[in-house]
Amino acid sequence: MDIYQHLYIDGQWRLPVRQQSFASFDPSDESVLAQVPAASAEDIELAVQAARRAFDEGPWPRLSGAERATLLRAIAAGIRQRLPQLAELEVRDNGKPLPEAQWDIADAAGCFDYYAGLAEAADVVPQQNIEVSDPHFSCWVEREPVGVVGAIIPWNFPLLMAAWKVAPALAAGCCIVLKPSELTPLTALELAAIVHAVGLPAGVFNLVTGLGADAGAPLAEHPLVDKLAFTGSVPTGRRIMQAASREIKNLSLELGGKSPFIVFADSDLEAAVEWIMFGIFWNQGQVCSATSRVLVERALYPVLLERLVEQTRKIRIGHGLDEGVLLGPLVSAGQRDKVLSAIADGQQSGARLAYGGEVPADLDKGYFLTPAIFAEVPVDSALWCEEIFGPVVCLRAFDSEEEALCLANDSVYGLAAAVMSQDLARAERVARRLRAGIVWINCSQPTFSEAPWGGYKQSGIGRELGQWGFDSYREVKQITRYDSAQAWGWYIK
Ligand code: NAI
Ligand code: MG
Repeated sequence: MDIYQHLYIDGQWRLPVRQQSFASFDPSDESVLAQVPAASAEDIELAVQAARRAFDEGPWPRLSGAERATLLRAIAAGIRQRLPQLAELEVRDNGKPLPEAQWDIADAAGCFDYYAGLAEAADVVPQQNIEVSDPHFSCWVEREPVGVVGAIIPWNFPLLMAAWKVAPALAAGCCIVLKPSELTPLTALELAAIVHAVGLPAGVFNLVTGLGADAGAPLAEHPLVDKLAFTGSVPTGRRIMQAASREIKNLSLELGGKSPFIVFADSDLEAAVEWIMFGIFWNQGQVCSATSRVLVERALYPVLLERLVEQTRKIRIGHGLDEGVLLGPLVSAGQRDKVLSAIADGQQSGARLAYGGEVPADLDKGYFLTPAIFAEVPVDSALWCEEIFGPVVCLRAFDSEEEALCLANDSVYGLAAAVMSQDLARAERVARRLRAGIVWINCSQPTFSEAPWGGYKQSGIGRELGQWGFDSYREVKQITRYDSAQAWGWYIK
């Protein structure tokens, strides 16, 4: 069975109803990797109905956490067992360098293990009694799975973004329909094969590959879906939110960012340069939390800029599977065009292009781009304000802590932020005042399954990961019991 030609619905591999497909490309050489089924509203109907049945008729939501944990751990083991193949597939489908893909896949397995632990722990949490003001009543709180989840994910961390939604949803007892990005659907199909081998009850996990408008939209709009979990762009996030509003669906959104990185002059130069690079060049800068706006205290600014250009020049660009490569191609022609046009606009805006931002002359196939460093970027330019989603960093000098904070917080986004200083009291003070859901001190980007992830302002709604991510797939139910033998005595005296 060629899994790349089938959708995974109700525990079975099936051809899409309309038998249409689309190509998934290797962005390093523009070759077609696979033809993948293009699901339509008819397939979404089947998948949502299957998830609905699996949820309403069970047994999945009624299993103990420990029973669900056994299956989640088996999924984690299945991912780990195929780590080399999955990492290579991720490189081919997305373009990212192999060491990054290996990290992503290991993290995805870790995410399933982590939520297995939370599912188990939930079994032994003592009943949460609520002290109410009237002694004739007992009141307590129970947690229940939210129901059927529609999960729509992007292409920047294909398997990892699937894990961030599938693992907590399954741990909580939900049933799920997952739609991966049309640019990177292959590791999600492999995940379906792993889930199938593990023997999850039919309909608990369903995978539909397809385009945003043809498969994503009908999933978001389906009345039998209880919760939408979305990661991607702000415009699509708005559509998802609109779709959710009709049935007042439960919703979590993880959207874009233009995250600031404040570097004080007492920072170690090499460490600052390294974390700035990791914050914006990792995954070709196609990271929602990328620290793309760097504010450097004036005394350090010239030397830091020079060192940053020097180190950036050394990054090896090429095919993600080649030894020593740390920057692969962007995910698609469209994404590279978008980044190139942001760079061209940036040059018009008065910012100084200190390095890069070109199509490398020696790589004539594939969507490659040299990393770009812009200096003295005007605060009112699109370059400074809008998410680019590529290896493009913007620098500015600042003179005071107050000014740095003002510039950092002046954004419609609030996903992440970073601050660097050897004065930890100052770093923590600044961290508290940054309007962002994630703040890194003396680093940028490290992410852990245990810690909450999500943004302020237009960066989204809700939190993924950690206990917060688990709870976002659980309803809170109040149960109140009248304990008195006395008649209530309101209407009937
Ligand atoms: P997108 O937000 O349109 O796509 C994300 C997911 O939503 C994909 O699975 C897509 O098929 C689906 N989708 C698209 N239209 C939909 C609709 N009408 N209803 C339901 N689902 C729909 O992002 P895209 O087009 O891949 O990238 C565009 C830009 O978005 C990027 O250049 C980047 O700036 C930003 N982006 C941000 C991400 C983040 O993590 N913050 C991730 C991916 C992209
Ligand atoms: Mg691809």
